[in-house]
Amino acid sequence: MPLTSDHPLLDGRTGTSPLVRAYRGDRPETTPVWFMRQAGRSLPEYRELRVGNEMLDACLTPSLASEITLQPVRRHHVDAAIFFSDIVIPAKLAGVEVAIVPGKGPVFANPIRTAADVAALRPLDPEALAPIREAVAMTVAELGSTPLIGFAGAPFTLASYLVEGGPSKDQLRARTLMYTEPQVWATLLNWCADIAGEFLVAQVEAGASAVQLFDSWVGSLSEQQYVRRVAPHSKRALSHLRGYDVPKVHFGVGSGELLRAMHGIGADVMGVDWRIPLDTASERLGGDVPLQGNLDPALLGAPAHVLEAHVQDVLDRGLSAPSHVVNLGHGVPPETDPDVLTRIVELVHG
Ligand code: CP3
Repeated sequence: MPLTSDHPLLDGRTGTSPLVRAYRGDRPETTPVWFMRQAGRSLPEYRELRVGNEMLDACLTPSLASEITLQPVRRHHVDAAIFFSDIVIPAKLAGVEVAIVPGKGPVFANPIRTAADVAALRPLDPEALAPIREAVAMTVAELGSTPLIGFAGAPFTLASYLVEGGPSKDQLRARTLMYTEPQVWATLLNWCADIAGEFLVAQVEAGASAVQLFDSWVGSLSEQQYVRRVAPHSKRALSHLRGYDVPKVHFGVGSGELLRAMHGIGADVMGVDWRIPLDTASERLGGDVPLQGNLDPALLGAPAHVLEAHVQDVLDRGLSAPSHVVNLGHGVPPETDPDVLTRIVELVHG
């Protein structure tokens, strides 16, 4: 489906913003920058708003989700907002029982491990996405010419949480299921792909100007297994956006060996983690893919001159790609001094 003429990408608000231009392969006058997890515990104004509000309740209360999304834009003057939500929200809206345990992450009361568990998963009723559409619309109305990035968790990362029942180091149980019950695995990943795809469509229709598909834990897979058992499902998630002309970013941690295969699912832009320099990433991708990344979050706590040299190095290496959006190689750690993020934005823009 095409975007409507009052969508921010088409009505003159965000179509020529530095972020959208860079995502489309162009080099705007200033290099755009935003940060994964820019909304969240690094900001005192976030911690204040969260007092008395559970994480997932905050995500599903449009006024709160919208305000939290806007906080880092006001403070840091980043080139994009990323919608405040979580990768487990579509599963919750499809009826799966999940909580976010502070300091730990998503925890599922009933992990999905058998054919019967998978068969019992219900589709996501588009009506259930109403709070998401409302929060996105409220946010976009405030953002003006700053684009909002929508997002979803990719099927593998989402399925890892569902199978493990919570965060895990190597996604061992999930990968065992992948090998031993390929049919159950495929059905589960298709379900994840469809709820993620519908979550993306809701955000885009309500006004998001780009999307990012997070396959955070994909680095635990071999390329062969990724291509065979995961990539087709990630492609299916993005295929929900067929016909909508929005830039699609794809990102995974530890994905240096998988960049080409991950790009192949239909991504326009590749997010790169801190383990591989951007010039190497660009070379692996054939030199014609816009890149996003890849400041090492570990350097956010380093002395200013060390961090500044690192930012410059990332900018220099980013020149090897057709275009570059500065970001971290993964999310902002909660203990980050927010002034450091503001300073990075100034440096990149300067
Ligand atoms: O600013 C943003 O990036 C937007 C919001 C956002 C959140 N989660 C908010 C959040 C986004 C894009 C996500 C995606 C997400 N959630 C991913 C993919 C990105 C990534 O970081 O790799 C993953 C793997 C999750 C699952 C998840 N949710 C984890 C691992 C955690 C952290 C647990 C913790 O407490 O450290 C969450 C909770 C979560 N999601 C928080 C936030 C701000 C922290 C909740 C809190 O404030 O207590």
